[in-house]
Amino acid sequence: MSQLKPISHLDNIPSTPGKFKMDKSPYIHRLRWHSSLAKLTFWSFLFLGLILLFFFRSPPPSSPSDSSRRSLSNSNWGGPAWEKRVRSSARVRARNGLSVLVTGAAGFVGTHVSAALKRRGDGVLGVDNFNDYYDPSLKRARQALLERTGVFVVEGDINDSALLRKLFDVVAFTHVMHLAAQAGVRYAMQNPGSYVHSNIAGLVNVLEVCKSANPQPAVVWASSSSVYGLNSKVPFSEEDRTDQPASLYAATKKAGEEIAHTYNHIYGLSITGLRFFTVYGPWGRPDMAYFFFTRDILKGKQIQIFEAPNHGTVARDFTYIDDIVKGCLAALDTAEKSTGRGGKKKGPAQLRVFNLGNTSPVPVTELVSILERLLKVKANRLMLKMPRNGDVQFTHANISLAQRELGYKPTTDLQTGLKKFVRWYLSYYSSSGKKSAS
Ligand SMILES: NC(=O)c1ccc[n+]([C@@H]2O[C@H](COP(=O)([O-])OP(=O)(O)OC[C@H]3O[C@@H](n4cnc5c(N)ncnc54)[C@H](O)[C@@H]3O)[C@@H](O)[C@H]2O)c1
Ligand SMILES: *[C@@H]1O[C@H](CO)[C@@H](O)[C@H](O)[C@H]1NC(C)=O
Ligand SMILES: *[C@@H]1O[C@H](CO)[C@@H](O)[C@H](O)[C@H]1NC(C)=O
Repeated sequence: MSQLKPISHLDNIPSTPGKFKMDKSPYIHRLRWHSSLAKLTFWSFLFLGLILLFFFRSPPPSSPSDSSRRSLSNSNWGGPAWEKRVRSSARVRARNGLSVLVTGAAGFVGTHVSAALKRRGDGVLGVDNFNDYYDPSLKRARQALLERTGVFVVEGDINDSALLRKLFDVVAFTHVMHLAAQAGVRYAMQNPGSYVHSNIAGLVNVLEVCKSANPQPAVVWASSSSVYGLNSKVPFSEEDRTDQPASLYAATKKAGEEIAHTYNHIYGLSITGLRFFTVYGPWGRPDMAYFFFTRDILKGKQIQIFEAPNHGTVARDFTYIDDIVKGCLAALDTAEKSTGRGGKKKGPAQLRVFNLGNTSPVPVTELVSILERLLKVKANRLMLKMPRNGDVQFTHANISLAQRELGYKPTTDLQTGLKKFVRWYLSYYSSSGKKSAS
């Protein structure tokens, strides 16, 4: 459902002032003309009308991409005022600061990364399509937050090549932080197309535009711990096999890593993939367990907790958002320049992949116990066998590579991080009667 909806909806809007002109013709027919002067006037107006019709119906000759722009996004981008906002948002304020295009900027991780970059003086421009995979009002609230810190989030789709090219025309981004994606493991069974649209076509489009840009930016993007799939060897290390994905989501992230390899190999793009492990925190995602458990515990609603066969523990290497943000910034800061120019490779370029986890898996039952203590409400638990719909039994990151290369060192344990999440949750959902975590 979700993200294709607004697009098809827009296709139904009759375009153009041309139609408007046509509707006027019956009115003209009703005119009575006695004199040749009236006839002359009539033909002059008809001629003028035809010229106007032609003018409005044909695309402006200088921008062949305009029609694709109209069909893909709601064309609320473009124009001098818009370009000014884009430039100002992307303006670098710190010495040696970066100029970063952040995709998925109204998302959970994207918002935190954008704000952190802006705080230290980097130029930041966001892109997000505000799809309704989860409550878009939360994305709008994050956008408003970013707006206050001086980050402009352009509403548009990463599969819209005209938009991305336009952004690179306006700003010479040094880095792209690519976080836009269709996330979620179970939703892939409902809407597989959305994963192909954003995680495959969208990623290819981002890399196409990056490889053609002059100069080419360095790219850092979000892969996922889910690429480890059915692996049972722990902790997960970057050298381990990643060819047994357990969900379509995981398969698209794995495909993304292979696609990254080709763009690095052929075009000299510097690319870093980050395998995030279950990120949580304030402004988080309502489709994730820690978030909807909190909502349901507060409502007194029963929560379903999965267990593996033989009462095996289901556990996650929960990673606090601030730690992930530090990892993202370190990846940007250590990224080498891309080596290509004009779409051609000039030499070997950097290609990296890192685990960003917390290195201490916590059973989901323990997650619930922590939430009960923080919320001071007893949860109504229902233990269920884990269905085979994409979730894996546990995740556990080996982060020694990120530690060595990025100086990455997570410092927030689950208890501490959840305390901050719960504080945010209570204030966010109580501050307005309109909002509710449905
Ligand atoms: N949060 C986690 O635990 C986790 C774990 C592993 C990987 N990741 C990855 O990290 C990235 C960020 O995740 P998040 O948790 O912030 O998710 P999120 O859904 O909150 O953020 C993604 C944002 O991208 C936007 N988006 C999606 N498709 C788009 C498109 N085609 N064009 C433009 N914008 C689009 C969405 O509207 C959303 O705001 C994603 O790539 C995700 O797959 C997240
Ligand atoms: C992505 O955009 C291209 C055109 O730029 C289009 O042909 C393709 O259908 C789109 N893909 C998806 C999956 O939306
Ligand atoms: C952790 O990963 C590194 C490679 O990044 C590897 O050399 C090391 O052996 C791994 N450690 C464990 C305990 O698996």
